[in-house]
Amino acid sequence: MDDVLVRAGSLARTYVAGGATVTALADATFTIRALDRVALMGPSGSGKTTLLHLIGGLDVPSSGEISWPAIGPVGTLRPGPVSMAFQGPSLLPPLSVIENVALPVLLAGGTEQDARDEASRLLDVFELTELAEKLPEEISGGQQQRAGLARALAGGPKLLLADEPTGQQDHVTGARMMEELMLEADRVGCAVVIATHDPAVASYCKTRWSVKDGRLITEVAAWA
Ligand SMILES: Nc1ncnc2c1ncn2[C@@H]1O[C@H](COP(=O)(O)OP(=O)(O)O)[C@@H](O)[C@H]1O
Ligand SMILES: [Mg+2]
Repeated sequence: MDDVLVRAGSLARTYVAGGATVTALADATFTIRALDRVALMGPSGSGKTTLLHLIGGLDVPSSGEISWPAIGPVGTLRPGPVSMAFQGPSLLPPLSVIENVALPVLLAGGTEQDARDEASRLLDVFELTELAEKLPEEISGGQQQRAGLARALAGGPKLLLADEPTGQQDHVTGARMMEELMLEADRVGCAVVIATHDPAVASYCKTRWSVKDGRLITEVAAWA
């Protein structure tokens, strides 16, 4: 049981907006183990981000249970053993790109030198070295997205949640990014859950889950 990172039973999340109730996720039961590689597939609005936020402890379920047996309680304060590469802009605006990427190492108690070395290495991996000293507002959305992924990997998470990580990349850059993401995950030894609607991105993962209208179907991909 040591390798069970996340266990969820009958997880549901409903939103009440303008008097209407939206069931974003219903009755999701699953386990995520150490080193798992999961592609969470589904069309826009199907509940992928909702599920990732629940897995990451950034949101609480309306009903059902979720626990992180091999990790302990997951707080909302990032970073930690569960890290998130967000779908939208997430870099801290006053910090440079390299400061953003170094932050998780510093917050985990690393020295400034360690943090800078780790951030420099990850910036190199994700083709951002030239942009290290820029502010987030001075770089493109795609570059911000790559920096967000680099930051999520800094500090060595046990579980990386990546929300449409290649959504703002061209195909060639997206493929390179996925190669590097998986290499880094192997190097660090973390599990990965990637929300995507791109089959090319999903093909990097051994396990495929699909979500449609808030219903999660878990299966192992035929190509694994
Ligand atoms: N904060 C919110 N308030 C109301 N409805 C929301 C909110 N967040 C998401 N939803 C709704 O929940 C459903 C799932 O959304 P989401 O998890 O973002 O899907 P995906 O990431 O697959 O595009 C959608 O119908 C969406 O409109
Ligand atoms: Mg989403």
